[in-house]
Amino acid sequence: MNIKEISNQNIMNTYGRLDIVLKKGKGVYVEDSEGKEYIDLGAGIGVNALGFCDEGWVKAVCDQAGTLQHTSNLYYTYPATKLAEKLCKDSSFNKVFFANSGAEANECAIKLARKYSTDKYSKERNEIITLEQSFHGRTVTTLAATGQDSFHQYFYPFTEGFAYAKPDIEAIKETISDKTCAVFIECIQGEGGVNILDKKLVQDIEKLCREKDLLFIVDEVQTGIGRTGSLYCFENYDVKPDIITLAKGLGGGLPIGACLCTDGLENVLTQGAHGSTFGGNPISCAAGLYTLEEIEKDDFIAKVKEKGDYFAQKLEELEEVKEVRHMGLMIGIVLKKDNAKEVSKKCLDEGLLVLTAKDVVRLLPPLNITKEEIDEAIERFKKAV
Ligand SMILES: Cc1ncc(COP(=O)(O)O)c(C=O)c1O
Repeated sequence: MNIKEISNQNIMNTYGRLDIVLKKGKGVYVEDSEGKEYIDLGAGIGVNALGFCDEGWVKAVCDQAGTLQHTSNLYYTYPATKLAEKLCKDSSFNKVFFANSGAEANECAIKLARKYSTDKYSKERNEIITLEQSFHGRTVTTLAATGQDSFHQYFYPFTEGFAYAKPDIEAIKETISDKTCAVFIECIQGEGGVNILDKKLVQDIEKLCREKDLLFIVDEVQTGIGRTGSLYCFENYDVKPDIITLAKGLGGGLPIGACLCTDGLENVLTQGAHGSTFGGNPISCAAGLYTLEEIEKDDFIAKVKEKGDYFAQKLEELEEVKEVRHMGLMIGIVLKKDNAKEVSKKCLDEGLLVLTAKDVVRLLPPLNITKEEIDEAIERFKKAV
């Protein structure tokens, strides 16, 4: 059976896939259909927070699958309730909406911000400022929120009410008008090339939001759930967003998204104002609860920071590397000569899976990767470059 051929014949050709078929994985290692083993430094784009098939995670998922797999949101369930309680207890947020993906979590944040502003001011005050080089998802509205022209070539008409600003406080101030209701940022622009926003800029954005009564929304879809060496990336900036969005690492490998809001916003989306058939699915929530509990154990998150610093330092020592941008285990590598896409292909030959973002080689390894595995990955990367 030629999986690649059958796949290409039957699945829409929207992904530039690498030329391997992945079959099974354990921890940071994954095996292809030919039996070749790879160290996975992409973790399904920052999703497999605990690596492949973590024993406890598999048990939590299987137990829930054998108990109650889905109910819809017409009824209360244990997993969604427990996960929501944990998300709120461990943060400054006080209510959660469950979705199925990052884009959907962001759709909720956008609707929440617009409804809040409509209720308090008027329906004309609906514009959301996002940053150039941002990425917020693939739905028509989250594409409109995405501050990259290349995403705005097709699919017209886009949802109105987004304005893009350079990541610069003066530029943001100039973009604000009477119509603005929120500023929506990623503290680290992952898809935009691992661009780490300046701490002062993020703090200035928060201050500006407070002065103008704009909602301050942080997209933590890629940066959240321990990825950057703190539970949420905004903690590294000493700010307190009104709304954050989560997905990727939250489920540890199952689809889930979440939009969290602070005091005063919890009753904005009233019954019927928003919903999702699969949102809060028991199996996804059981997976999320297990993942979150593991990540919050002992010094797990402190170790993410330590391992990220170690990884970055090892990469910086390589002759071929020009610059390493990182926070925790969210790492962007700028190479002196090599093209990132070509390097990602060469990495395959050496038994390494890496991601790219623009001209940057991007690493989002499982958060429980060990230093020994990092050393082995460095050896393989060295050969590839
Ligand atoms: C910051 C950010 N927001 C939103 C999304 C969209 O998430 P999803 O693909 O789960 O819809 C992504 C995906 O890469 C992301 O990195």
